[in-house]
Amino acid sequence: MLFKIFFFLIVFCICEIQINGQSENYFCSTNPLKLILKGFRDVEDIEKFCQSKSNWECDDYGQKFIVSQGEFTKIEFQNISITHLPMNCLSLFPNLKELNASNSEIEKVGEFTNYYGSHLEILNLSRNKIKKIENSPFRNLGNLKYLDLSYNQIEVIESNFFNNIVKSIAKIDLSYNKLKQFDEQLLSDGYQIYNLGNNLTIQLDNNLIEKFLPTRKNCALNLENLGFKLTLDLSDNLFKSIESKCDITVLDISNNQLKDVKANATEVIVNNNKIKTMNFFTDPNIVSLKNNDLQSLDYVNFLSAFKNVQELDISNNLFGSLKIETFADMRNLKKLSLRGIGLTKILFGLFGQLRKLEYLDLSYNDLSTFDHQNFLALDNLKTLDLSGNKLRMLFNFENIKEILPKLQFIALEGNKWSCSYLSLIKKSFNKQQVQLIEAKKPVKNERNIFGIQCYFDEL
Ligand SMILES: *[C@@H]1O[C@H](CO)[C@@H](O)[C@H](O)[C@H]1NC(C)=O
Ligand SMILES: *[C@@H]1O[C@H](CO)[C@@H](O)[C@H](O)[C@H]1NC(C)=O
Ligand SMILES: *[C@@H]1O[C@H](CO)[C@@H](O)[C@H](O)[C@H]1NC(C)=O
Ligand SMILES: *[C@@H]1O[C@H](CO)[C@@H](O)[C@H](O)[C@H]1NC(C)=O
Ligand SMILES: *[C@@H]1O[C@H](CO)[C@@H](O)[C@H](O)[C@H]1NC(C)=O
Repeated sequence: MLFKIFFFLIVFCICEIQINGQSENYFCSTNPLKLILKGFRDVEDIEKFCQSKSNWECDDYGQKFIVSQGEFTKIEFQNISITHLPMNCLSLFPNLKELNASNSEIEKVGEFTNYYGSHLEILNLSRNKIKKIENSPFRNLGNLKYLDLSYNQIEVIESNFFNNIVKSIAKIDLSYNKLKQFDEQLLSDGYQIYNLGNNLTIQLDNNLIEKFLPTRKNCALNLENLGFKLTLDLSDNLFKSIESKCDITVLDISNNQLKDVKANATEVIVNNNKIKTMNFFTDPNIVSLKNNDLQSLDYVNFLSAFKNVQELDISNNLFGSLKIETFADMRNLKKLSLRGIGLTKILFGLFGQLRKLEYLDLSYNDLSTFDHQNFLALDNLKTLDLSGNKLRMLFNFENIKEILPKLQFIALEGNKWSCSYLSLIKKSFNKQQVQLIEAKKPVKNERNIFGIQCYFDEL
């Protein structure tokens, strides 16, 4: 009996010391109310600590108050190093909506399969040491909207990844991992992605993906019918070639080593590659092909000849010249960027069909003259960028609205203007309510008008 009391006392004392000591192990932040657990080095310690508390003492600018587990909707880990999640602890918080378990040593997330965290919407597991996502670990998180798995060491994701979270999920961040391939199977039927209940963004940028494995099944998506957008960011990987037939709304494959691409996407961003040929299984609305090796748009093939293209950017490719019929079918074009493509002249009629065009960038070419006839069709042009050419004269500048009735902004820096001529342009544009766009590289210690360099009249 004496022994028992003695034992009880010892246990009691140890607990007391532990609990007092560990009050350093958490704090609350208010507005919104969040529980921050910190300084643990072991999963078991967290579990024990959570189980020993039913009420948490919070402090709001010196005002102490008590919060019960059910009141917390957010938990954050700080300075915790654990290899798996303390599920017994998390299960004690029935209303948890956000768990931020980033910056730890978590290797496995399989424990989630036993967790019925039906309210969890944001799960942050970024900056951990996860290598594999297998057996649909998130399958019981039916309300998950945002899953952050960035900055791990994930090499493989299985194709049933989306099961059960597909109705609620809106963003999955898998950037900065070690994935080597993208399996289009993920987007095919049998894998529930056709049950999409939200616009979905999947970040797969900054991985080591070389291969796109085309699905053998049918693409399940018919996003236009569903009314949802699927955005796939595959930029900064190691692709050399891609053929993807599944319907993706926004496909970003910038910063790879791509030479040719076949895609079925509405918006396609392929900047900074080595593209020589490009084929579309659909009519995209937005196409960005900046910094590639294109020499002609003859090697860019759209399903039905560019009819739907609204924005086209082919800046910094070495075209040299553009054939007169280049844009003839792009009647819906609103934005066209032809910056730095080596144009020395513009053939009369090149822009003849672009009645909807609102933005035209001709900057950093070698244009020394062009006629106002070139612009006669551009009834809706609002912005014209002529920076960085060799212009000395500007067509009809005194009555520019006769040619471009909607013009609002014009950029003229980096040309060969004489100072008196440029000041006439400026005055005249003021009257006509056309705004000279401020120089991006303003000249300070040479002759200039509002930062736009100009020369002696003799030049
Ligand atoms: C992290 O927690 C450990 C105890 O587990 C502590 O010694 C250390 O000072 C903490 N570091 C920071 C930055 O809070
Ligand atoms: C998640 O927790 C980390 C601490 O580990 C913190 O730096 C970060 O700001 C938190 N993120 C959000 C969105 O609360
Ligand atoms: C996850 O936490 C990291 C900090 O560790 C933060 O940068 C990131 O924004 C967070 N993600 C979400 C979805 O809150
Ligand atoms: C999906 O995106 C479209 C276009 O951006 C938007 O109009 C729509 O409201 C979004 N749908 C949902 C469910 O967020
Ligand atoms: C492209 O996507 C559309 C819409 O889902 C689909 O009908 C079409 O068959 C796809 N094209 C190819 C070549 O698979």
